[in-house]
Amino acid sequence: ETVEWEAASYDMGGHDTYMHKEISEQPDAVDRVLRGRIDDRFSTVHLGGLNLDAREARTIRRIKILGCGTSYHAGMIGASLIEGMARIPADAEPASEFRYRNPVVDPDTLYVAVSQSGETYDVLAAVQELKRKGARVLGVVNVVGSAIAREADGGVYVHAGPEVCVVSTKCFTNTVVAFALLALHLGRIRDLSVTDGKRIIEGLRKLPEQIGEILKLEDEIKELAAAYAGAQSMMFIGRVRGYPVALEASLKLKEISYIHAEAYPASELKHGPLALIEPALPTVAIVPDDDLLEKNRAALEEIKARSGRILAVAHQEQEKADHTIVVPKNEDELDPILMGIPLQLFAYHTALAMGRDIDKPRNLAKSVTVE
Ligand code: G6P
Repeated sequence: ETVEWEAASYDMGGHDTYMHKEISEQPDAVDRVLRGRIDDRFSTVHLGGLNLDAREARTIRRIKILGCGTSYHAGMIGASLIEGMARIPADAEPASEFRYRNPVVDPDTLYVAVSQSGETYDVLAAVQELKRKGARVLGVVNVVGSAIAREADGGVYVHAGPEVCVVSTKCFTNTVVAFALLALHLGRIRDLSVTDGKRIIEGLRKLPEQIGEILKLEDEIKELAAAYAGAQSMMFIGRVRGYPVALEASLKLKEISYIHAEAYPASELKHGPLALIEPALPTVAIVPDDDLLEKNRAALEEIKARSGRILAVAHQEQEKADHTIVVPKNEDELDPILMGIPLQLFAYHTALAMGRDIDKPRNLAKSVTVE
């Protein structure tokens, strides 16, 4: 059972697919999630629906983020944003797994449920079980007034606007931005300095324009997609912040092109998947210009030494890569938000070149409201 697709109710606005429309809407969508929330006076953000005062926020010892599919990946980036800015141990887990393993529910842990639709049954059931056990649960949700939004003690609306394509693009991006806001808010209540708060705010303000710049690379990405569309399988790698970006990009490719793809932390390559590398298995590598750049370059060398083809998403041309998609640099923490966007277009154009039904991939539903 699934929620019916309400395509008819939204205009495609001159795009051939909802996915393309939704990818294109990202500069405006990000603008919306930021709007009215930045507080320059204290270099923080206001999140009106959080229902968590500063004193309570200081007592949180852990944060556990729960979601499914793309929302789970957004939650993984959210966890690293929170841990980095607020220095609260945080991790993400698929809600579907969490529910079935009799988790320890700890009163000092803040639980965060992530969902575009706000109706995913596995997430809702996890929230209900947590609430029954007395836990505090926040929602990071797109659809206002949805079941998960109602059930949660408070939360942050993602304001991505309606998303029709079965696979999530703009909502993923906005969810990660919403987590950046939550991380900044918690960070500024705890030990994040004014200077760092300002730095993050400036980075957030740059996002819509930088996303616009990435969208201009579409013709180049389309050509790359045509060059890789014949692959049977693809490897996606990233390290630390780049790993969830790799996971989400590989999911996007699988969902709409049906090309087998897997994502690995770049550091794990040598512990197994390196055995797969050969000319027929291209690798997409996330290579941000941060303190791990040299480590990531070493991974590219390992792949090249085995004649693997490499498509890099980076802030500068990568010598070892066959192709580099160069994206604008933001603050290190916020770079994952930008680095996933060219790979949405990459998945899109690969699927298009293969003649797939992009907005309604086989076997999938926008929202899975039963077990
Ligand atoms: C379905 C969709 C995915 C989505 C997941 C979670 O499986 O096909 O694209 O990421 O549900 O949906 P939610 O609405 O909870 O974010």
